Amino acid sequence: MRAINVRQPAPGQTDSKGRPLRPGPETLFVDEVEQPTPGPGEVLVRTVAAGVNRADLLQRQGLYPPPKGITDIIGLEAAGIVETLGEGVDSWQVGDEVVALLSGGGYAEYFVAPAGQLVAPPKGTDLVTAATLLEVAATVVSNMDHVHLTEGETFLVHGGAGGIGSFAIQYAKALDCRVAVTAGTQAKRDYCRELGADIALDYHEDWLADLREATDGHGADVILDIMGAKYLGLNVSALAADGRLVIIGMQGGTKGELDIAQLLSKRGTVTATSLRFRSVEQKSEIAARVAETVWPLVERGTIVAAPVEQFAFEDAAGAHARLGSGEVSGKLVLTF
Ligand SMILES: NC(=O)c1ccc[n+]([C@@H]2O[C@H](COP(=O)([O-])OP(=O)(O)OC[C@H]3O[C@@H](n4cnc5c(N)ncnc54)[C@H](OP(=O)(O)O)[C@@H]3O)[C@@H](O)[C@H]2O)c1
Repeated sequence: MRAINVRQPAPGQTDSKGRPLRPGPETLFVDEVEQPTPGPGEVLVRTVAAGVNRADLLQRQGLYPPPKGITDIIGLEAAGIVETLGEGVDSWQVGDEVVALLSGGGYAEYFVAPAGQLVAPPKGTDLVTAATLLEVAATVVSNMDHVHLTEGETFLVHGGAGGIGSFAIQYAKALDCRVAVTAGTQAKRDYCRELGADIALDYHEDWLADLREATDGHGADVILDIMGAKYLGLNVSALAADGRLVIIGMQGGTKGELDIAQLLSKRGTVTATSLRFRSVEQKSEIAARVAETVWPLVERGTIVAAPVEQFAFEDAAGAHARLGSGEVSGKLVLTF
């Protein structure tokens, strides 16, 4: 079968600053690889579309290797048609349409996934759109469960116009929360407001002061953070009393300084999670929870899938370059 692979730079190659050369989008190429075989409890799926996520860019650069035992092929979510059932699988039939939460392998004509990590797409949603929904929904829902986001609370998500952000705004609005976002341009802040954000902050300005002003000094009860170190101090300052900060991204670095005095005076919580490194059982539970709680919201139109930009599978390089440009509002997908 055909799959996207990464052409690694020759050993010892460095950039202009002498750092090891990281493979750019142009190093992605269509390779001929062996088709995977489903083991017991697994399903082989013929791919129709694969979601493109920021983590994929990191994996290409060698900065986010797959968990042990998982294929090197990039791709954390995909949708397609069930082709073959592994031993003991009775929850699916050949020909079923499915969406998969993957630990890797989505950028290929076929992928294998544990049966529990597959769900049917929401009714009325085509497979291309569905391929962009499960990873963000699973990330947001599992994290909001983790920090108990509750009706009436003020919720801040950084990068409101991104894949995670555009979903998180709508999910938190569906929970009847007051939603604040940060975004880098006026057009992106307008987009966040269209999705339901009540407060849209410019991250090039003093977003902490602007958040405090917009919330009459309250701050945020829950923050979903994708910046990591760069925002650690600011996020703790932005927390309301009993506030919870959950970090899921490290776009602003991995090592920050935590003001413990400030945190304890607020009885604050700082936590961090990764979806990819969870067990099959946990991923299956999360996928089922998404199908149970989020799909009905999608089917009713309460949550609208982010605008999807499609790239032919062969042009994975183009999709990576586009996502890396920072100009995208919404989600990118590879179609097969
Ligand atoms: N831990 C997990 O399980 C998990 C799962 C999924 C995703 N993630 C992580 O979540 C992050 C977002 O993923 P995604 O798919 O939504 O990526 P994406 O669609 O590429 O969005 C990236 C976002 O980062 C925002 N951003 C950049 N600089 C910023 C700054 N200084 N302040 C605030 N926001 C800033 C961008 O805002 P503008 O566009 O306005 O510039 C954009 O909305 C990634 O780091 C990804 O690795 C983690």
